[in-house]
Amino acid sequence: MGGRLLLFPLPFQGHINPMLQLASILYSKGFNITIIHTFCNSPNKSNYPHFAFEAISEETLTASPTMQGSVTNVVLLNKVCFDPFRDCVKRLLSNASADEPILCLITDALLYFTQAVADLLMLPRLVLRTSSLSAFHVLRLHPVLLQKGYLSEGLDSHSDAPVPEAQPLKVKDISRTYKIEGEDLAEIISGMVMGIKASSGIIWNTFVELEQPVLNTIQQNFPIPSFTIGPFHKYFTASASSLLEQDRTAISWLDMQAPLSVLYVSFGSVAAIDKSEFFEMAWGLANSKQKFLWVVRPGVIRGSEWLEPFPPGLQEAVSERGHIIKWAPQQEVLAHPATACFWSHCGWNSTLESVCEGVPMICSPSFGDQPTNARCVETVWKVGLVLENGFEREEIERAIRRVMIDQEGKEMKMRMSCLKEKVNLCLMEGGSSYKSLEDLVSFILSF
Ligand code: UDX
Repeated sequence: MGGRLLLFPLPFQGHINPMLQLASILYSKGFNITIIHTFCNSPNKSNYPHFAFEAISEETLTASPTMQGSVTNVVLLNKVCFDPFRDCVKRLLSNASADEPILCLITDALLYFTQAVADLLMLPRLVLRTSSLSAFHVLRLHPVLLQKGYLSEGLDSHSDAPVPEAQPLKVKDISRTYKIEGEDLAEIISGMVMGIKASSGIIWNTFVELEQPVLNTIQQNFPIPSFTIGPFHKYFTASASSLLEQDRTAISWLDMQAPLSVLYVSFGSVAAIDKSEFFEMAWGLANSKQKFLWVVRPGVIRGSEWLEPFPPGLQEAVSERGHIIKWAPQQEVLAHPATACFWSHCGWNSTLESVCEGVPMICSPSFGDQPTNARCVETVWKVGLVLENGFEREEIERAIRRVMIDQEGKEMKMRMSCLKEKVNLCLMEGGSSYKSLEDLVSFILSF
């Protein structure tokens, strides 16, 4: 087709993966791809020889090559990237040839400053929102929930009362959702919402069958073209865009385990826990008497480089049944016949990856979109359960046994398998995501 698309991911693992997967999907549909990226957390170009890459400098961040995903960094990026991003796009536009026109920008919803650049240069902008529809719906309710007092100081942050405005959340989920409290978060949400409203369209990494009612609500509130073409990782895996090296011993260890006997534990690339929570996790895992593959990402335990020295007795209890690694080939782990359950922080990529492999979940959401994803897992799709009291060894042990051994776990597994089946159907010719991708391609060609 000859058209070129300029894609700009937010430089955090959970956002780089879906943007690079989207790039590969659109390349497979005949578009040429340029990835604009920051110096920190830049993608591994050698894994994408067919893409062009353009680095933009953002002065205040170049000193931090391992920039962590955080609210502060999102706000900062929206400020410092404006000039270099505009100059980069301008240069690419002026160098573009007539037989390979630049058709549009596709940028992360959290890089909302890019809408002003698109307007300035009169280039259409499509938004990629990497979260679930449900989590986006809850996030954008921030002003309403603030006004109704759900974020007031005096509110019981342990309350199990429902929140009618933001179903299926409980009151205690609200503070977790906006835990990264303060003006910055409000700024991000309003920037993102305004940026989406002014854009030419939005792309979602989800599929209609999973979130139909919320899709209807969002389409009423955001009357722009909306494309639900996910799950992206079913077209192209996340391995190529992994910023950390994936430990292959995960697979050789799983190969030695019985079918459906292993609990996989990982909290993604951003969430962190305290040392005391880590020890409760370890005791809960050891006491459950189940086999487990545990990703302890360097930095996941606050104040520690990697693994803390275990208290007496715990090391032995853990190594008897578990294999601990720093970073896993997660998709392969979830697809492995030995994997029975995923204890996750419920980042959207992890949640979708679990759904696609039919693996029931135990949920320990931390912040942002994670509490909503966790409630969807538990109460909407009924394919897992949420640890209600944080990290307590007895509750952890009970939850593991409920999902991996009890009858209710078998029912969760059955429902997850149904969702897995729906994923496969939506991607087949005539399926919802298949058709939406066709619509997206035609839409881009109409620019
Ligand atoms: C962040 C937010 O925390 C999350 O809530 C949001 O939905 C996306 O941005 P992150 O915390 O990294 O993402 O979680 P998640 O969305 O689950 O993405 C993690 C990615 O890293 C997944 O694609 C997963 O396959 C990959 N991963 C994770 C690995 O490759 N190896 C691992 O050991 C763990």
